[in-house]
Amino acid sequence: MSVFADKCKDIAFNVVDVNKERIAAWNNNDLSKLPIFEPGLDKIIQRCRGINLTFSSDVHKAISEADIIFISVNTPTKTKGIGAGKASNLKWVESCARQISEYAKGHTIVVEKSTLPVRTGQVIKGILESSKISSNSTKPTPTFDVLSNPEFLAEGTAINDLLFPDRVLIGGDNKQALDVLGEIYKNWVPKEKIIYTNLWSSELAKLTANAFLAQRISSINSISALCEVTGADVREVSRAIGKDSRIGSKFLASGPGFGGSCFKKDILNLVYLANYFGLPEVGRFWEGVVELNSWNQSRLTKLILENLFGNLTDKKIGILGFAFKANTNDTRESPAIVICKNLLNEGAILRINDPKVDRNQIANDLETPPDQQNQKNDNLDYSYQKKSWQKMDLNRNFFEGIDAVVVLTEWESYSKIDWIEAAKSMRSPGWVFDTRSIVDTRKVSEAGLNLWRVGDGVLNEQRKRI
Ligand code: UDX
Repeated sequence: MSVFADKCKDIAFNVVDVNKERIAAWNNNDLSKLPIFEPGLDKIIQRCRGINLTFSSDVHKAISEADIIFISVNTPTKTKGIGAGKASNLKWVESCARQISEYAKGHTIVVEKSTLPVRTGQVIKGILESSKISSNSTKPTPTFDVLSNPEFLAEGTAINDLLFPDRVLIGGDNKQALDVLGEIYKNWVPKEKIIYTNLWSSELAKLTANAFLAQRISSINSISALCEVTGADVREVSRAIGKDSRIGSKFLASGPGFGGSCFKKDILNLVYLANYFGLPEVGRFWEGVVELNSWNQSRLTKLILENLFGNLTDKKIGILGFAFKANTNDTRESPAIVICKNLLNEGAILRINDPKVDRNQIANDLETPPDQQNQKNDNLDYSYQKKSWQKMDLNRNFFEGIDAVVVLTEWESYSKIDWIEAAKSMRSPGWVFDTRSIVDTRKVSEAGLNLWRVGDGVLNEQRKRI
């Protein structure tokens, strides 16, 4: 909505949320304290906030004043009940629709921005329609159009993705409403990039796009494991297949597995839908993408264990990166969570570095209780049921006495580490496990450290010869 506000100066954008603390953070004068870290976002907020972009908790007022309402609440995977573990929990979507139905005035276009299971538009329509039946005769009956306008931005590149989208997708059945939303985008998006479809195609296209992207990552990670045992190099394989214009070169970087709030959730949702509609073969096909991803994460732990003589008890391991990818402070479904938990369970002592993720977030994710007395100090030890970790800055102390470094997020700073200096402090034989292919391999070997790199069968062959 910040990018919308920046590009459409004659439209007022009111962002509302029931969470008052979150709204206060969005209104914070200190732009480094915004709730989300996203490169370039602070500058846009600075330009628009208080002019045509406001943040407030007065949800009902904003609904009654709005011509268009974007529902942008989260739709996590259900944890209990029918479809638990796969289906989306739509309670927040329903709650929004109910409030809109109660407080909207005149004609309102309701836009699904959240990623939703196919045919959720029907549910929203049903709830909105109910206001016609229940409204008393003194109040003019509000009317609604429902559109689907899924968001394809990726974290870390969100501003650029919004400014220069590959396409904008708008689904619905009323041409007038489709045009109203299309015209807003035309303020900065070329009209040939705006695609209009029916509501269901739009909803399904969003799930499908994420499923295809995630599938590419599982595909390349499966080949990566094969490269490691055959003497091939996954970077070379990616380059070779990526030159085929039918395949394309993007999303072929092998790594620790996909994370983030969308891929797993959306695929599981697709699986649920396929099974619900009596297509178990389709469900199983997509479920395999998630299974491969989980397997990939557990195989990395095993590799570390095997190379460190089958024993991690009391060994110190440095973890570089906790966010699910670089340029974000988001840790949802981050491979680092599973891998760190596995290493802690093996008795390792972890030193965790991430330029943007704070210690409390790591404590939540690793399910270790927060240290009440020393909340402000980032460099303190956690010991919990013999499992311990600490968050540390990336300085000499980080490398002091450690047996191995595991690179889990592709932060640029990690590609510039002076391994010769680092090796001086590490315990011998020191190891570097690079799951993102970003470390300077020459420097690591010059430093006399052992290197394991994802999908690098050539390195494995060399090691066997030694
Ligand atoms: C994704 C989609 O890209 C976006 O279109 C959708 O709107 C939301 O979900 P996001 O989750 O922000 O965006 O991140 P993305 O860049 O897609 O990366 C997802 C995960 O895949 C990350 O863990 C990333 O490290 C991993 N990844 C990505 C790879 O392992 N290899 C790749 O080549 C690309």
